[in-house]
Amino acid sequence: MDWDLLWLDINVATLDPARTAAYGAIEDAAVAIKDGKIAWVGPRSELPEFDPFSLPIQRGDGNWLTPGLIDCHTHLLFGGSRANEFEQRLHGASYQQIAEAGGGILSTVQATRKADEEQLFQHGRIRLNALLREGVTTVEIKSGYGLELATEQRMLEVARHLGRLHPLEIHTTYLGAHALPAEFKDDANGYIDSVINSQLPLLADAGLMDAVDVFCETIGFDLAQTERIFQAAQRHNLPVKLHAEQLSNLGGSQLAARYRALSVDHIECLDEAGVAALADAGTVAVLLPGAFYFLRETRKPPIELLRQYGIPMAVASDYNPGSSPLCSTLLMLNMSCTLFNLTPEEALAGVTRHAARALGQQHRLGQITVGMDADLVQWAIRHPAELAWQYGTAPAVEVMKAGKFITH
Ligand code: NIG
Ligand code: FE
Repeated sequence: MDWDLLWLDINVATLDPARTAAYGAIEDAAVAIKDGKIAWVGPRSELPEFDPFSLPIQRGDGNWLTPGLIDCHTHLLFGGSRANEFEQRLHGASYQQIAEAGGGILSTVQATRKADEEQLFQHGRIRLNALLREGVTTVEIKSGYGLELATEQRMLEVARHLGRLHPLEIHTTYLGAHALPAEFKDDANGYIDSVINSQLPLLADAGLMDAVDVFCETIGFDLAQTERIFQAAQRHNLPVKLHAEQLSNLGGSQLAARYRALSVDHIECLDEAGVAALADAGTVAVLLPGAFYFLRETRKPPIELLRQYGIPMAVASDYNPGSSPLCSTLLMLNMSCTLFNLTPEEALAGVTRHAARALGQQHRLGQITVGMDADLVQWAIRHPAELAWQYGTAPAVEVMKAGKFITH
């Protein structure tokens, strides 16, 4: 067999829905890699004959292999800190009150506008390294702390640089409509004009964004404003995503579904009409238990309805300084089970197969099946449920991206 590498002595959680076992598991499996892709996967007993002298063998010590984890929703590039607002909240102020008083996202905007490319890059690198150590191989990074052309551009360029220079795969999302910048106070439509006529076309033409997102919320942008941005994205052939139904139900998910959005994210306040709309559009529901936890929300996403309608549920960190300063995808596995009642299998599918779909990458990422990219993590665990059960032991032993080891 003309392969580049062969894994043996390994159990595999393929996350392949065509396999009936939980986790798509194959115990005592073999996985062959060729040109950065999965060339063969199945039980060891069915492995075709190979020449052990010419093929490098990677022994898995009876550990488990999963697809590389995918964090499909982060705001990982930002300047400054929001620890002061954490203190204010513990003295009784709410996230919304802080935002309405000019803090919140806008305070990070001030700090990010002051941060130069080098600072953003160095912080980004440190945060990506933390994710890589826990088995993450693909990360989405949103802009949205510039809210003006120059800083939005800097954020997206730094994200692109990280994508080239760091072993993790980076997908960029333009979130110019994250909050209303102070210069446009009381003129939200004027700001949307500048997003549509200046920021989005220039940054899209420069190839800096893979998708477009909006914060559709009472403290963000309304439905009509969101739709104008979706139309602009459509003109540039860019897929859309939406921060929807986090603190209130504005019907953002129905709007997103009409635009065939890749995902709607947060969705604590989503109702059945919204869930039905997602089903028709094939849109992924991205659950963000870190923000739910950190803001001490009480209203949970409608998990049972999402199950009934067969909506793919992804799980992501939403890593950001305000609502989820938790730079850990693995922690989200545990939280999505403890806070939202996902099963460990649903949680793992949420950071692999469904997260890949939330980035439009389901054809190449998120499963261990023939033809997919060889993004693989070897874990020192005895059962895949351990990944959601226990947190803090960092059991990733080896991480492979497109057939190359990237951990050590
Ligand atoms: O996903 N909801 C809007 N954006 C972020 C919060 C950003 C911030 O507070 O800085 C979120 O929760
Ligand atoms: Fe977010």
